[in-house]
Amino acid sequence: MKRVFSGIQPTGNIHIGNYLGALKQFVELQDEDECVYCIVDLHAITVPKDPKELRENIRSVAALYLAVGIDPEKSIVFVQSDVSGHAELSWILTCSSYTGELSRMTQFKQKSREKESAPTGLFMYPVLMASDILLYDTNIVPVGDDQKQHIELTRDLAVRINGKYGEGTLVVPEGKYMKSGARIMALDDPTSKMSKSAENEYSRISLMDTPNKIKKAIMRATTDSDGEIRYDVENKPGVSNLLSIYSAFSGIPVEKLEETYRGSGYGDFKKDLVEVVMEAVTPIQQKYRDVMESGELDTILKEGAEKADAIAEKTLRRVKERFGLGR
Ligand code: TYM
Repeated sequence: MKRVFSGIQPTGNIHIGNYLGALKQFVELQDEDECVYCIVDLHAITVPKDPKELRENIRSVAALYLAVGIDPEKSIVFVQSDVSGHAELSWILTCSSYTGELSRMTQFKQKSREKESAPTGLFMYPVLMASDILLYDTNIVPVGDDQKQHIELTRDLAVRINGKYGEGTLVVPEGKYMKSGARIMALDDPTSKMSKSAENEYSRISLMDTPNKIKKAIMRATTDSDGEIRYDVENKPGVSNLLSIYSAFSGIPVEKLEETYRGSGYGDFKKDLVEVVMEAVTPIQQKYRDVMESGELDTILKEGAEKADAIAEKTLRRVKERFGLGR
């Protein structure tokens, strides 16, 4: 059995990009592997957060995990800051990382652009992410395309530390990416990825959006003027993105969709896409409400943290011994 680890930041607006790139894989993997799914609240405070809002978002993402089909009987679900090993291993990894490699991280470069001084937390973010993964002797990390560079850094750190402190100190993980869904683009600008924080709320479809909002977002999505429903990312990024979303939700291959919609207009295609998205998110929204009302969330997260801590403890003990830390 392989160990799977992944996490999502507790921010609002968890969207269909997060679902199709990450959450959908989380659910699929739990039948074959030993899965550990985390709500990464320590990562969330790399940018200032309102404490009340953060708490709410932690619960909300936990409820969404269960609502999309993560089963706490099969998978471990927990909050990152409940297991102190994340922060502890993060320091140990920090001491094997270099400012050069961290400065090259695209997400850091984007977020610190044109700033004379950037928050240290943003700079260290990928090392904390590496410690999340390495703390659980993880083999597989299901994520969206945008995390590729962070996964590569995690692998580099593990290989470097194994080279210095002995093979088997850390397990070298691999990223796992969806065929369609690994990179869902913004609906208003298909050249940038769909994001939780974009100002225009019609740039994304959040999993908890109302039918009316979903309809509006899709019907206004940027396309092009040639009127052909064809997958061509370079020349037709808007239509290609909608085809990817349609395919990822319905399981129908893109080529089949192109065939079905040959000769149809964008309006009809978009109307059908609204149906497809609604069909997928409606049961998630229902289950989300059920979870929130059930009052079971705290017990699940508490038990999850205990199970996660037991695995983390073992890894930390091994790492500290190899490094010569402690008595
Ligand atoms: P976060 O919270 O930004 O996103 C959660 C997951 O959603 C994926 N994703 C997307 N996939 C497809 N299309 C998109 N437009 C899109 N936007 C986001 C992300 O790739 C991610 O898989 N650094 C991570 C959180 C993290 C983590 C970890 C992940 C912390 N520690 C350890 C894996 C393992 C992040 O900010 O994800």
